[in-house]
Amino acid sequence: MPGIQEAVRGAGRALLHLVVGAAVAVVSYLFVALVLFTAILTLLVVGAGVLPETVLLLRRVASFERRRVGEWTGRRIPEAYVRLEGPLRERVRQALGDPGTWRDLRWLVAHFAYGLLLLYAGLLVFCVGAVVDGLWCGVLRRPALVLPVVSRLADVDAAWSRALLGPAPGARELAARVTELTESRAGAVAAHGAELRRIERDLHDGAQARLVALSMRIGLARRAYDKDPDAARRLLDDAQDQAEEALAELRHVVRGIHPPILTDRGLVGAVRALAAGSGLDVAVRDDGVEAGGRAPAAVEAAAYFVVAEAVTNAAKHSGGPRAEVRLARTERGLTVRVADEGRGGADESGGSGLLGMRRRVAALDGNVRLSSPVGGPTVIEVELPCVW
Ligand SMILES: Nc1ncnc2c1ncn2[C@@H]1O[C@H](COP(=O)(O)OP(=O)(O)O)[C@@H](O)[C@H]1O
Ligand SMILES: [Mg+2]
Repeated sequence: MPGIQEAVRGAGRALLHLVVGAAVAVVSYLFVALVLFTAILTLLVVGAGVLPETVLLLRRVASFERRRVGEWTGRRIPEAYVRLEGPLRERVRQALGDPGTWRDLRWLVAHFAYGLLLLYAGLLVFCVGAVVDGLWCGVLRRPALVLPVVSRLADVDAAWSRALLGPAPGARELAARVTELTESRAGAVAAHGAELRRIERDLHDGAQARLVALSMRIGLARRAYDKDPDAARRLLDDAQDQAEEALAELRHVVRGIHPPILTDRGLVGAVRALAAGSGLDVAVRDDGVEAGGRAPAAVEAAAYFVVAEAVTNAAKHSGGPRAEVRLARTERGLTVRVADEGRGGADESGGSGLLGMRRRVAALDGNVRLSSPVGGPTVIEVELPCVW
């Protein structure tokens, strides 16, 4: 009888799924009584110790069901519970406050009904199917007709359990957000480390080297002072040059950390200064960015570097005569938009400026949108979340 063995086996597997499901339903239903019972006792403080344990047991049953459904459908159901820890009162509070507890209970009540119902339906279909498909496949040599319905019933069981036991959509978004924040925090730590190393290198190679040379010159000049005053003067002249260079180096390093112009003139003033020095015709528009206080220093510095890079790119690569910078304050933070009228085709893999911009912004949990079709124009929009 072609197909019938296969059909019976498939239906048998589905039936087994339903049988186990119904068994879970019956066993777990005892929990409703147990949980209610201990909840009442908890109110009277007598049985408080049992409640967290009962909730943990309930979680195990629900976990078993999640695994079972995961195996049947081939898709895991993620699990999310509040951890129960600390003194008893705390654990009782956590157990009752965890939405997971109520989700499990809701599933448990519903599953008692549909688990048993689907099992009855499955048994009935299986018996009918065994007879009908026996004739259908055996005599008429057609594929099984009724037995596969048992599998569909098991599918229904799995789908309902999944809907009831899966995390709420909000929780899923939250989990994704946590992952994102973890990544951006790791990025921030890495960026911070890289920044420290860069500053250390700049100071070491620049100002420090010049100060060492300066100190040597002064030592030589002191020794030459009595015997050869002319040589001493020359050495002191050199030393003065060196001191000025060291100062310039230091200014450069400081500018790279937090541009002093931000402190002096604020973000809008600093951006206007950038625009004026860019060699392009740059219009700066600010929508009340500094009306109600200033953004955090790190955000202002990032915004400043974004504008500096984007405007430099517009001048260097776009070929257009004009650009526009818009700074705006939004509910989420600060947005920066730089647009030019040039040829477009900006490519992050073509240099380090745009990539550096993206990293700096990502470290503050912000995001960069770059639109630069060939033929232009190039628009860079950056969002920097912050509290004002
Ligand atoms: N505004 C722009 N208009 C046209 N091309 C651009 C623009 N900005 C960047 N590009 C292109 O993208 C590449 C990468 O930019 P970037 O990462 O800033 O590197 P860099 O400026 O150091 O070359 C540039 O080399 C340039 O070819
Ligand atoms: Mg660049």
